Amino acid sequence: MRLNIKKLTIFVGCLVFLWILISYASVIEVPKTSSYKNAAVEIENRIIRLQQKMDEQIAESNRLLEKVKKLRKTDNDINEGEEEENAKDMEVLQHVAQPILPVLVIACDRVTVKRCLDNLVKFRPSKETFPIIVSQDCGHNATYEVIKSYTTLDSSISVVRQPDLSEIVLPRVKVKFRGYYKIARHYKFALNHVFETLGHEAVIIVEDDLDISPDFFEYFLGTYPLLLKDHTLWCISAWNDNGKMEVIDMSRPDLLHRTDFFPGLGWVLRREMWLTLAPKWPAAFFDDWLRNPVNIDGKACIRPEISRTYSFGKIGVSKGLFFDIHLRNIQLNMEYVEFTKLNLTYLLKENYDDALVQKVYNLPEMTAEEVASGVSGNNAVRVMYSNAKTYQRAAKKLGLMDDFRSGVPRTAYRGIVTCFVRGRRVFLAPDYDWTKYYPTWG
Ligand code: UD1
Ligand code: MN
Repeated sequence: MRLNIKKLTIFVGCLVFLWILISYASVIEVPKTSSYKNAAVEIENRIIRLQQKMDEQIAESNRLLEKVKKLRKTDNDINEGEEEENAKDMEVLQHVAQPILPVLVIACDRVTVKRCLDNLVKFRPSKETFPIIVSQDCGHNATYEVIKSYTTLDSSISVVRQPDLSEIVLPRVKVKFRGYYKIARHYKFALNHVFETLGHEAVIIVEDDLDISPDFFEYFLGTYPLLLKDHTLWCISAWNDNGKMEVIDMSRPDLLHRTDFFPGLGWVLRREMWLTLAPKWPAAFFDDWLRNPVNIDGKACIRPEISRTYSFGKIGVSKGLFFDIHLRNIQLNMEYVEFTKLNLTYLLKENYDDALVQKVYNLPEMTAEEVASGVSGNNAVRVMYSNAKTYQRAAKKLGLMDDFRSGVPRTAYRGIVTCFVRGRRVFLAPDYDWTKYYPTWG
């Protein structure tokens, strides 16, 4: 706005000056045929006309200036603390225009980190925008050698080693969870390295057993502005916990949602948020900790309809069972979506929340049984639940994960879980006025 007033004033000033120049030029050119007296009268008339025109011009400039001032005033009234708002907008613009989103790879003792790095390098559209930082825990030399083979060839790839390899002392009942303690310790070190030591503004976090989709980077580049603009969001994840082929809309790779359930598995975190998390970072199970609304200030994440990562880590800390019954079947998106060219403002809280409730509660109702085995159709429906039990029954019937963390069902947003079953969009929604999650569920 400030820039516009300046420009406007200079522009109007130039116009007036030009006008005077031109008019005086014609005044000085005295017609040869007239007598001196006539010429003098003529000049006088011209000067009078010129004076009038100048007055009009000045009046018009003043009117414009007033208008601009009024507009500025209304702006100020709407955004309290204009300075602060301006600073924020500037920050947003700066980051959107030229963001640097380093990729942090969490590695330990699996040489298959090669598969992860190969894909990152293969799909990375820019080394400058997406430098790769591998953080290695566990002191495993063979894995370190693999990582080194990348860092020596490419200066945009670096490695740091988690220095504290001491055994974590635990009571006997918790010994079986040692891996989760080490992971939490490693994450704390790695994130401090990225934000404090290297001073980055945001980071994309991946684990060493993740594949990525061809549009993985484009997805984060396109959604990052949402994270800067909407302060009710704290993360953007590449993962859909209910991302199996049978429960997603394969024709909508562009579709994104808000979720209260932290999905992890390829996600963006901002420095600002890390500064609030770091002092209270948990000793173990950091991902479940991030699924407790209390720890993330009730904020939400963005997640895709079709996952942009795939976990190939059957052998890991949580062992293979979860992998076989669940992870193995998550669909990895293969269709490239140009997220940076899409209008994603529908995901901003102010556009999303009321619209979702409006839509869902105006849909016809069906039972989970009817959706799963009745007549199929392509109209969207609502399936109601009233408590943890009825939620779980319906989720199971629809083929969704039916577990909770801190009372939040996977992929839920304000109590609503959406999926796509047998050709129709389904919303699993509470039959009561939703206000909060109940930690006792699950
Ligand atoms: C599961 C989650 C994972 C989460 C972890 C912690 C899935 C599919 N995976 O791990 O996203 O981070 O629980 O609650 O839901 N690692 C170390 N140090 C160790 C052991 C492992 O840094 O001592 C690293 C691994 O390199 C990997 C990550 O931690 O990047 C997760 O380890 P993994 O063995 O894959 O365990 P999951 O069971 O998949
Ligand atoms: Mn894993």
